[in-house]
Amino acid sequence: MMATPLLFVSRSCKAVHRLQQSPFFSPISALSRHRRVTVLRNSSTHSCEADKSFYITTPIFYVNASPHLGHLYSAVTADCVHRYKLLRGFNSKFATGTDEHGLKIQQAAEAAGKDPLTFCTDVSERFKHLFNSCNISYTDYVRTTEQRHRQAVKHFWSVLCDKGLIYKGSYEGWYSTQDESFLTPLQVGDALDSSGQEIKVSLESGHKVEWMKEENYMFRLSAFRSQLLDWLRGNPRAVQPEPFHHAVLQWLQEDLPDLSVSRQRSRLQWGIPVPGDAEQIIYVWLDALVNYLTVAGYPDKHDQWWNVAHHVVGKDILKFHAIYWPAFLLGAGLPLPQAIYVHSHWTVGGKKMSKSLGNVVDPLERSPMFTTDGMRYFLLRQGVPDSDCDYTDNKVIKLLNAELSGSLGGLLNRCTAPALNPAQVYPSFCPQSFPSKQEGRAVVEDYHMLDAVRNLPAVVEQHYESMHVYKALEAIAACVRKTNGFVQRHAPWKLDRGDSEDQRWLDTIIHVSLECLRIYGTLLQPIVPDISNKLLSRLGVQPGERSWPDVNFLPRYRGMDCPFEGRALGSDSGVLFSRLESPNLDKQKPKKTKTANSK
Ligand code: MSP
Repeated sequence: MMATPLLFVSRSCKAVHRLQQSPFFSPISALSRHRRVTVLRNSSTHSCEADKSFYITTPIFYVNASPHLGHLYSAVTADCVHRYKLLRGFNSKFATGTDEHGLKIQQAAEAAGKDPLTFCTDVSERFKHLFNSCNISYTDYVRTTEQRHRQAVKHFWSVLCDKGLIYKGSYEGWYSTQDESFLTPLQVGDALDSSGQEIKVSLESGHKVEWMKEENYMFRLSAFRSQLLDWLRGNPRAVQPEPFHHAVLQWLQEDLPDLSVSRQRSRLQWGIPVPGDAEQIIYVWLDALVNYLTVAGYPDKHDQWWNVAHHVVGKDILKFHAIYWPAFLLGAGLPLPQAIYVHSHWTVGGKKMSKSLGNVVDPLERSPMFTTDGMRYFLLRQGVPDSDCDYTDNKVIKLLNAELSGSLGGLLNRCTAPALNPAQVYPSFCPQSFPSKQEGRAVVEDYHMLDAVRNLPAVVEQHYESMHVYKALEAIAACVRKTNGFVQRHAPWKLDRGDSEDQRWLDTIIHVSLECLRIYGTLLQPIVPDISNKLLSRLGVQPGERSWPDVNFLPRYRGMDCPFEGRALGSDSGVLFSRLESPNLDKQKPKKTKTANSK
């Protein structure tokens, strides 16, 4: 079947009359220059450190199927940013929730034989349960079926309508129910379904598309192209990482037709009716995107949060967030998000994890084996925002055994083991053994290690800020290895405890190592909150001593007091992270390293 060009027919209606008379007929010329500049400026480099408020969101999750690891990845990514901002002293709001309207959900509820709201509540609870189990520390959980959200959407719609940006027309073209997305003919290709039938599919998602022709309301998206380009060109960090920013700019070079923003009630009942026209239901993406405003307090008191909004999104929904959403916001006269952080996908066997492919990994099934923190660490250490990552259980086991159990856990174990630290205290640092000039017992590699750990908070900060969390974890893991190297090099278990100089050096080695561990524990809090808590508690670091300004590494080396010196260690001497067993890994078992305990 030949693809027919999309057709947008403007029809006479109340909205159209208003449109023609309205100064907003052309939104670009209509928004005063001054106002435009203000809107764009607010959306960009405004420093949030000054007002100390920060707002981060996950996408809201479709409730047509149960949560999987890919969903958890979006949530863990946002949770990490939120926790990091809290450590930095920000007043951070973190929103997540569920996207419950639309044809896809309506059909899923029908298939399950449940009324839509009961169906949505059941699945929404499953997402909530997963997030609670995985320490996703959201401060608000929004459901699009809530009254506060319906009010926000209706208000938002009315603002766009009053500004003459919505008109009644008719849409004819391709629609993917699975993606709840309209597609141009160029975005559609041929495929065979499971029974060998020829079908049309979205080239991007592979999901089936159908030809749709109906009367509905259109949003004047085409009029926003140059404003969107201005925004992106003026704010090179608006969409991160850079390749995605570039992709959005490319899309804006292509056709940008007006967007259908409602569906006929005869086809879709499960949604929010268009204000003043009960025969039309608001397009699910417009409905869903407004959730970010709902949580911010729209329409009455959203400024505090809306001026500092940041979104985490998967790459599959970038177009909705980086084109439709900013256009809606510009139309409504609201500031644009400060940044849209994009991540790629988790694949299994090279294919995007999804219910329809039957290759989903259920994090709740895996977490008893790997622990919640283990899953979080794996996702953020291996997940590279710019490219897809293939999931296997063996990868998880290898990584966690090497870095959490072996390297980090081993280091803590060595430095707190009664054999080396019988008094169970944070021992003293001896400036003569480790002087700032290389005249003591420390060697050149030790000074390099100190430099690396001293710089680590700044390195990690830079990577957390730019959402390159995997790079932050890479840097931390490299430093942990260096500290293990330091301990191994000086083999404190070989020192003569009867000799006072040896004893001072031994204490210094342990003091330096515990200081390193304190830095690692503090910096890892956004990633593995339980493990960090266990580690810091074992070191005797109190809850009020764990924020970013507390990192202050090794003050004794700089001749300053260390609040931890001489303090009793925490009593929980349990294993930080238990080694995971896998029959498949037998051949790859790492060689046993000598530990204080094995001496
Ligand atoms: N409901 C919309 C979002 C509306 S936001 C206003 C939606 N929901 S979703 O449940 O399909 O996806 C939610 C998030 O999960 C997206 O960020 C998406 O990219 C992410 N993931 C879903 N599958 C994924 C993988 N296999 N891998 C990584 N993330 C993936 O889209």
